[in-house]
Amino acid sequence: MEEKRYLTFALTKGRLAEKTLSLLESVGLTCEEMKDKSSRKLVFVNEEQKLRFFLAKGPDVPTYVEYGAADIGVVGKDTLLEEGRRVYEVLDLGFGKCRMCVCGPESARELLKHHEMIRVASKYPNIAKEYFYNKKNQTVDIIKLNGSVELGPIVGLSDVIVDIVETGGTLRENGLEVLEEVCPLSARMIVNQVSMQMQPERIKDLIARLRGKLEL
Ligand code: PRP
Repeated sequence: MEEKRYLTFALTKGRLAEKTLSLLESVGLTCEEMKDKSSRKLVFVNEEQKLRFFLAKGPDVPTYVEYGAADIGVVGKDTLLEEGRRVYEVLDLGFGKCRMCVCGPESARELLKHHEMIRVASKYPNIAKEYFYNKKNQTVDIIKLNGSVELGPIVGLSDVIVDIVETGGTLRENGLEVLEEVCPLSARMIVNQVSMQMQPERIKDLIARLRGKLEL
């Protein structure tokens, strides 16, 4: 009976979705409909395998999964930490690797050392709060931004930023550097808690197949 239900995937739009789809394809889960780039469809179906896929903005993926609109999601660890949704994190997919860091001009290093009341700009206020308040026991003023966070210290909005560093290119080009590392990041697979009870065999089998592939 279990096999008759659809298994619905919420994928993060962009590069993560492309890598996820090729990983899923390598273990036999496909969706031809999704390869048609001219299509304006939002939900893609593989009737034969009873699979459904849709693309969403990163921060919305854990929301769809928590509420059960998707059984499975693929999203960056940064988003999972920031959103704090009740979902099972079942697999580190190993791609989308980068680091969450405190960055700023070299001159801000002293401010961090002496636990001064500094201003921190970030797209990730919850991660910044957790790091400064709970891990470092430092009271700071956190300012939420929505992108191009590197501007913060450059134009004098903040002393430092908490942001994702991948190649380090953006920081270098703007005279900023990594001052402290908060945590490593990568793409994770998440599962709705009820789906895990309702379709345990199917989901566990998928996780095992993906884990096997990732360990190769
Ligand atoms: C991310 C991040 C950095 C940049 C880091 O921004 O916020 O700005 O990538 O990558 P790098 O170390 O390889 O230079 P994104 O491109 O997602 O856009 P955003 O500035 O709008 O957040």
